[in-house]
Amino acid sequence: MSAQDAAKRETAATSEVDAKRSRADQPKPFVSIPDNFDGYALDSFCIPKHYEDSLERILLPHGIIMDRVAKMARDIVSDLEYEPLTCLCILKGGHQFFADLVDRIKMLNESGPLSLPLRIDFIRAKSYEDDHSTGKVQIIGGDNMESIRGRNVLIVEDMIDTGNTMVKLLATLREYEPKTLRVASLFVKRTPLSNGYKPHCTSDRPSNTYPTRASPLLPLLMSTAFLDTGFEVPNHFVVGYALDYNEYFRDLPHVAILNDTGKEKYKMSSH
Ligand code: HPA
Ligand code: MG
Repeated sequence: MSAQDAAKRETAATSEVDAKRSRADQPKPFVSIPDNFDGYALDSFCIPKHYEDSLERILLPHGIIMDRVAKMARDIVSDLEYEPLTCLCILKGGHQFFADLVDRIKMLNESGPLSLPLRIDFIRAKSYEDDHSTGKVQIIGGDNMESIRGRNVLIVEDMIDTGNTMVKLLATLREYEPKTLRVASLFVKRTPLSNGYKPHCTSDRPSNTYPTRASPLLPLLMSTAFLDTGFEVPNHFVVGYALDYNEYFRDLPHVAILNDTGKEKYKMSSH
């Protein structure tokens, strides 16, 4: 090959990498549930009898969640194309979203044309008691984190609320120097307690309009960890689809708003 051809080939390869990177950096659409959205009556859907008295309304029926997860999987696969990916499940709340998202990525791998070699791993990051943040994050099961060095990593989380858990987790994971870090969170809550970590996404409605308490780490994290969001939700405590209140409600298929009876009945101190 002539030096000229080699240079041409290198330029083409570089512009392909650039094109891929800029495609991956494009904001992705997400669904924003407005504050005045009423949700659905409990008796419109099947819910476990043991939770009937503890829920206000259904915010998102299971089927809508599944449809949104399918699209999130497609966005991830089309951004990464053939690149190997480690999906890191944040237990326990992320387990259902993780299982369904990985299932969808596997289905896309089977049907082509793109496919991503997948690895999976599981960690816990615990920060909640009752329905308020304790302000501390405990990372459990981080022993195997050397395995993410040089890899594309997708952190799969159920919910970003204050953002404190994710900011701390990203800072910790960055120490292992993964090739890329990306976060898929099924829910992002619109809350005045947000530290400002929010979706790199577009929506037909304005995103978090509350003033935020910015974390000093934010500019760095926002520029290095793309955040895919399923749904931006109003400032309610929601349960179901593996999201819990003191370990209850993970077995509810839909995402619903917890009522005062539920908060009292399943309070930490009463168990
Ligand atoms: N539900 C369950 N877990 C949570 C929530 C929520 O609304 N916010 C933060 N962790
Ligand atoms: Mg929880």
